[in-house]
Amino acid sequence: MTRILSLTQLILLLGMSLLIMACGRGEYSDQPPVHLNPNMDSQEKYKAQSESNFFADGASMRTPVEGTVARGELREDDAYYRGKDAAGDFIVSAPMAFTAEMVTRGEERYGIYCVACHGANADGKGKILDYNYPIPPANFHAVRIMDLSDGHMFNAIGQGWLNMPALKAQVSVDDRWAIISYIRSIQKK
Ligand code: HEC
Repeated sequence: MTRILSLTQLILLLGMSLLIMACGRGEYSDQPPVHLNPNMDSQEKYKAQSESNFFADGASMRTPVEGTVARGELREDDAYYRGKDAAGDFIVSAPMAFTAEMVTRGEERYGIYCVACHGANADGKGKILDYNYPIPPANFHAVRIMDLSDGHMFNAIGQGWLNMPALKAQVSVDDRWAIISYIRSIQKK
């Protein structure tokens, strides 16, 4: 026997289901939400920077074993990564031949990272002079600077030199060599 709902019953049913659905929404509860299929969503684990009562130093994060090197981060090529030879002295010339592409790239990078101090003409008369920088930046056409080894220049860019800040965070190793190739090209002119 089938029974057809009257309009009033239908409205009532609809109203009740809406009420049930609305119940609890936006309400604050101390209970964890109903989680029908937990899979492995919550497990015991340490979170970054959290405390640990297992390790003696009380920290859950461990430092890598001394001498650990991440893949691809060995950087054992002293000449390329540090501008130095095996004895630790600055190399006279860059470990690669300068190409036209390097000079172009170097010119572009120079315009971003060096020009404010060393100037568009590489004469050390950059915009920074208007702001009372304590020591004037080097003039790349000065004999002393022309005579600097490539390795010394590489080191100056990456590690800074006296009153010049270190730029290793801003200028990649490749770009440091490219900038040197550009500086050498204008020094020749
Ligand atoms: C914030 C300003 C500033 C920026 C940016 C800067 N320099 Fe310098 N640089 C200086 C100053 C100042 C000196 C002189 C330092 C001294 O003798 O106390 C200097 C010196 C040098 C020297 C000479 C080091 C020596 O042995 O005397 C080289 C080479 C050099 N800079 C290269 C660069 C290159 C290449 C860049 C861009 C990648 C650059 N600098 C960016 C301020 C700057």
